[in-house]
Amino acid sequence: MAIDGLELISPAHYGDAGPPHEQWRRLRSQPLAYVEPEGFENFWAVTRHADIMEISSRPEDFCNGEGIVLLTDEQAYRRDNPTIPMVMKTIIEMDPPDHRIFRKVASGYFTPRGIERLDEIVTESAKSVIDSLGAEGEADFVESITQQHPLRVLSTILGIEPEQEQQLLELTSQLFGGDDPELQREGETRDEAMLALFMDFYTMFNTIIEDRRANPRDDLATMLATATLENGEPLGDMETLGYYLIVFNAGHDTTRHSLTGAFQAFLDNPGELQRLKDDPSLMKSAVEEVVRFSAPVNYMKRTATRDLVYDGHEIKKGDMFALFYASANRDAAVFDDPDRFDVGRNPNRHLGFGWAEHYCLGAHLARASIKALLEQLAARMEWMEPAGEADYVASSFVVGPKHLPVRYKISG
Ligand code: HEM
Repeated sequence: MAIDGLELISPAHYGDAGPPHEQWRRLRSQPLAYVEPEGFENFWAVTRHADIMEISSRPEDFCNGEGIVLLTDEQAYRRDNPTIPMVMKTIIEMDPPDHRIFRKVASGYFTPRGIERLDEIVTESAKSVIDSLGAEGEADFVESITQQHPLRVLSTILGIEPEQEQQLLELTSQLFGGDDPELQREGETRDEAMLALFMDFYTMFNTIIEDRRANPRDDLATMLATATLENGEPLGDMETLGYYLIVFNAGHDTTRHSLTGAFQAFLDNPGELQRLKDDPSLMKSAVEEVVRFSAPVNYMKRTATRDLVYDGHEIKKGDMFALFYASANRDAAVFDDPDRFDVGRNPNRHLGFGWAEHYCLGAHLARASIKALLEQLAARMEWMEPAGEADYVASSFVVGPKHLPVRYKISG
């Protein structure tokens, strides 16, 4: 089967054409396909639901510690010849046993019960972003709604002051913007830009860490700033900073893209919004369907820790695998009519939050944020229609629309 590797992995391709659903559909006829895209690291494409579950469940064979994104040849060269040594690892790049020890530091906060405490913050945030639209008009829903809601929620739990929210938003877009020129810093080499970016994050989060150590409160910021490991040792400064970074960065663009994906799906399928308005008991399944259908985390990389055989293929230690969650979520072996957006879909065993060892730590918070916005939408959106084309962020990792122009009328 001819494989267009660039279509699978090139950020520019995603910017131009969105996710390669048609190619994934063909690739799902086999468990693995070896891909050699020009200018990028070679990898095994894993596109089926069952194989992604299998590989995710074997962290001793397929690890995260060698990195979670596939690199361009140039990035791989810079990694092997670093001008700036990377001293910080976040939990997503850890493997057992360290991973479990560090994940425990915050996992208590992110349980369903822990997240219930945030109900008021999440509901208020969703309401205020919809209020800010005014009764009727035209707006870019990414700018006005979908990036503001998770920004407000995450900033609140991490102790970021409202006046710093926009700066944080710019920093995270630059970190995740891939090759998108609209999102990159200008006039610097990439290494200088990354170092400057890191220092800006450092300054912002370090001020909060110091404040919470001196003045503890009942929030995640304090929990991280004062965390100890199982052996009673305090979490190191770099690890604490890493936690801030991973919570914000893993939580913001993913939630934003899932919300934009929800608006897109409802614009394309107005009958599904009507269904939700008529039957609010569908809210829970609608939230899961939004995550399945939008699949903001397009893929995650794993690396083989040893020579092994998988489905008859000789795998070499160091071989890389792209687990395409967005493809698994459209696998017809698991989902009836997988390309249909169905707010009542049940069961819905999607892999939008990953699976097993690295299953999304923030999944309950993400669900609560999506639910709060869908509730506003179902209760208050009188009508909406596209006011132009949506365009995609040029990134193949965390994927979604960059702009979504919409005409709308809402009630008070
Ligand atoms: C709809 C929104 C979200 C989606 C689709 C999503 C998706 C994912 C996925 C697929 C993974 C697995 C990574 C892997 O396989 O290596 C993951 C991990 C993670 N997510 Fe999320 N996420 C979302 C929201 C959030 C939020 C709101 C937070 C935090 C507040 C968060 C924090 C994390 C963290 C810390 C990890 C790493 C967990 C670990 O390595 O043990 N995510 N997420």
